[in-house]
Amino acid sequence: MKGHNVRELPKVELHLHLEGGAPPTFIKGLAREKHIDIGGIFNEDGSYRFSDFWNFLKVYEAACTTLTGPEEFRRLTLAVLEESAASGVVYTEAFLSPDFCGGRDLGAWREYLAAIEEAASEAERTMGITLRGIVTPIRHFGPEKARETAICAAETAGDFVVGLGIGGDEKAGELKDFAWSFDCAREAGLRLTAHAGEWKGPEEVRAAVRDLGVERIGHGVRAIEDLALVDELAERGTVLECCPGSNVALGIYPGFRAHPISELDRRGVKVTINTDDPPFFHTTMAREYEMLNRAFDWDDGQFRRLATQALDAAFCDADTKAKIANLLEA
Ligand code: ADE
Ligand code: ZN
Repeated sequence: MKGHNVRELPKVELHLHLEGGAPPTFIKGLAREKHIDIGGIFNEDGSYRFSDFWNFLKVYEAACTTLTGPEEFRRLTLAVLEESAASGVVYTEAFLSPDFCGGRDLGAWREYLAAIEEAASEAERTMGITLRGIVTPIRHFGPEKARETAICAAETAGDFVVGLGIGGDEKAGELKDFAWSFDCAREAGLRLTAHAGEWKGPEEVRAAVRDLGVERIGHGVRAIEDLALVDELAERGTVLECCPGSNVALGIYPGFRAHPISELDRRGVKVTINTDDPPFFHTTMAREYEMLNRAFDWDDGQFRRLATQALDAAFCDADTKAKIANLLEA
């Protein structure tokens, strides 16, 4: 049913970078407050300016220089969750980066995390959205820094910090060099995901499963280039955190109709719908739903099935899942 209002449906998001959710006006405001010159990262219309993925990473890091302390992260978290809640998101897992929260110092990280959690509690009370965190090393910062990040994750694992991921430049280094960090997190009871199969092909998806033992893959869409792998992912129940609007904005696919999310779903892979870095890619969860509805004629039933599939794959505890499940049925 085309044109139907799928924007209203309750949504679950598993792949959102907290800093990547920063509205450009928010970052611009902080830069002005702090007299930080990052003018070059904005277009004249106020949107973020970048030419490709690698330049996007630079712009992202420049934007993060305005996030100078826990208070900035408290405000950021509220701003991001406000946008998500406006899209109908009732549960979200956000990637949190100790690299940008006190340079991976454990004491500093605890303070940043407390501020993020304070904002999450406020958002839960006032906006009805639940947040959990996935601590995320940045691949192009290298395995050494990733170890420090994993220690931050392991030391703060609990009800709020529920996972470890890895993002950044997929073409930098090899995933197996990060195995220590993933083992450390696993031993602390954290659940695991890794960006793979966004900028590299099926082999990188295999490496994430084989070398890091992840149960979810960030993107993973390039698995479609190897149908034996697709069957394997379906059989294992590996969950793909698909971000169609992000992939289209960064030029991996020319449009939503060319995005493999629908074929992966048809082939039995557990796909989910996510925004990645919504203001950078001019998207929201509501827009992702609308574009998928138009591209593949997906209806309410399909979106509800995928939201339940995402909740099943969430890293939070069973009580939280039960509470969110009630909201999905509403
Ligand atoms: N960090 C923020 N967005 C990312 C993406 N799409 N891929 C890898 N790392 C990221
Ligand atoms: Zn991502």
